[in-house]
Amino acid sequence: MRIFHTVSGLRDALTVHRRGGLRIGFVPTMGNLHDGHIALVKQARETCDIVVCSIFVNALQFGLNEDWDKYPRTYETDCGKLRDAGCDYLFHPEDREMYPNGLDTQSRVICPTMTDVLCGASRPGHFEGVTTVVTKLFNIVQPDEAIFGIKDYQQLAVIRRMVEDLCMPVEITAAEIHREPDGLAMSSRNSYITAEERPKVVVLKQSLEWVAEQIKAGQRNFSELETAGKRRITEAGFKTDYLTVSNSKTLNPAAEDDKEITILGAMYTGGARLIDNLSIKLK
Ligand code: PAF
Repeated sequence: MRIFHTVSGLRDALTVHRRGGLRIGFVPTMGNLHDGHIALVKQARETCDIVVCSIFVNALQFGLNEDWDKYPRTYETDCGKLRDAGCDYLFHPEDREMYPNGLDTQSRVICPTMTDVLCGASRPGHFEGVTTVVTKLFNIVQPDEAIFGIKDYQQLAVIRRMVEDLCMPVEITAAEIHREPDGLAMSSRNSYITAEERPKVVVLKQSLEWVAEQIKAGQRNFSELETAGKRRITEAGFKTDYLTVSNSKTLNPAAEDDKEITILGAMYTGGARLIDNLSIKLK
């Protein structure tokens, strides 16, 4: 695996492959890699000739009171995992390489739909930071395909919409959620969960599953289901951020006759904010 810290270095190396007609796959990450990330790399390995991964803890997508400074940075371990997974190139830029003119005056990519709701409602500016850095990374890597995890469902939907709206020549592939044996969705932030909280946090997934079962059984009063789902989380001792029944494509509140529905949830433990989702197709 070759490692680059500069835009120009990575560009030069990839130009050779692009001119040779090789298919370039890209997995953007913020590091602290778990099996879910590695599955994305392996998926890219299957469909692409060249696999590029990035590790960059993007300050632009963190709010002022969020965990940018304490976000786990595990570079050496991450490099080993990426090598084992068959990654060809790692891009690991410094902040000043990505934002040479500083954050305040950085040009931004705004995707007005879907970004003010759900995670966007409690993390103002978060998706603007994501769409901006992903656009920059796409411009640097110029991948044929980029792979994103379904666990960050809203992020995936926003990026798909951005790519469509801005005619970006990159194919977006979704990768399944990777889960711990008890069902907890893998996340770099799971390390913030305490030992005492750990057995109980699966309530988030279980609440989404319960709502999905009710819908499959014919229940269509979605707001009642949302309230009941949130109650389950509260009863387990956690604070719900949101639990919604949404249209899978638009992320608007689901209509009674929608066929593709995604139930999305976010909750707070003492030190973490956990998200999860579950999609169902109705006949
Ligand atoms: O999902 C993430 O880890 C980040 O939001 C991403 C896509 C790497 C952009 O910083």
